[in-house]
Amino acid sequence: MKVICGPASRELAERVSALTCFGIISVASKIFPDGESYVRLEGDVKGENVVIVQTTCPPAQDGKLLQLAFMADAARRGGARKVTAVVPYLAYARQDKTFLTGEGVSVETIARMLKAAGIDELITVNIHSESTLKQFSFPAKTLSAIPLLAQYFVDKGFKGAFALSPDKGAMYIAQQAQTVLGGECGHLSKSRDRYTGQTVQTTDGLNVKNQTVIILDDIISTGGTIVGAAKILREQGAKHVFCACVHGLLIGDAEKRMLDAGVEEIVGTDSVPGSISKVSLASLLSEEIKAQK
Ligand code: R5P
Repeated sequence: MKVICGPASRELAERVSALTCFGIISVASKIFPDGESYVRLEGDVKGENVVIVQTTCPPAQDGKLLQLAFMADAARRGGARKVTAVVPYLAYARQDKTFLTGEGVSVETIARMLKAAGIDELITVNIHSESTLKQFSFPAKTLSAIPLLAQYFVDKGFKGAFALSPDKGAMYIAQQAQTVLGGECGHLSKSRDRYTGQTVQTTDGLNVKNQTVIILDDIISTGGTIVGAAKILREQGAKHVFCACVHGLLIGDAEKRMLDAGVEEIVGTDSVPGSISKVSLASLLSEEIKAQK
């Protein structure tokens, strides 16, 4: 088995290679002057099962998706026996249904494109809705990084902290964190206007007075959800407010807005490499890849 080091996830792929002891294949990449992507595998894949590690987070997620497809095609043409894509953040996963008349289902289009490029199997992490993967015409699986994020806070001395999800649909995230943190868990309620994107959050009778609260979510995009939640928690008398997410997209000044709203620390994973990616997915991914060998 070989690990192909996607340009968007070089460090993570190197860690996976080190933990699995599977050889690494580096990838030369460039953007042509007209904006088109180019990749070339710098190693032999003939007869190998290969794992391409490539996240598809912003910025330039469309380009990263194309790089992934081009690497899969190159691996196929190079004679790889099986091509598995490890895509920690799968772009377009939130458009998993037709919300308004006239829309498509973007994530299904992406899945068809990846299959056509030569991908046999996909592994992702905390996809927004697990049921999305059932629509794919090839094996696809999502792993959870929530226990790793919760462990980060245990290691910092916050065993017993309150695990909070910002909406009911993400309650499973708070429950997973609770199994590691050992404190209470709960959720806020959130509704979104599909035309304006504006959200409204409410407490649903939550009591977090004097508690250390960790808000956990799958994605932080603009930070609006966390800002709203942090304000509610401060009003309720929470002692400390932290937040953690698997995919810290941090669009615009999201990080500053959350800190200004009273969040003491923001923690993410290397699904999205950046200032808050303090928890690596390498161990989680390596275990899964080794189990599949
Ligand atoms: C949506 O339901 C997701 O789970 C996140 O809560 C959402 O994507 C966060 O977006 P933002 O940071 O823009 O509020």
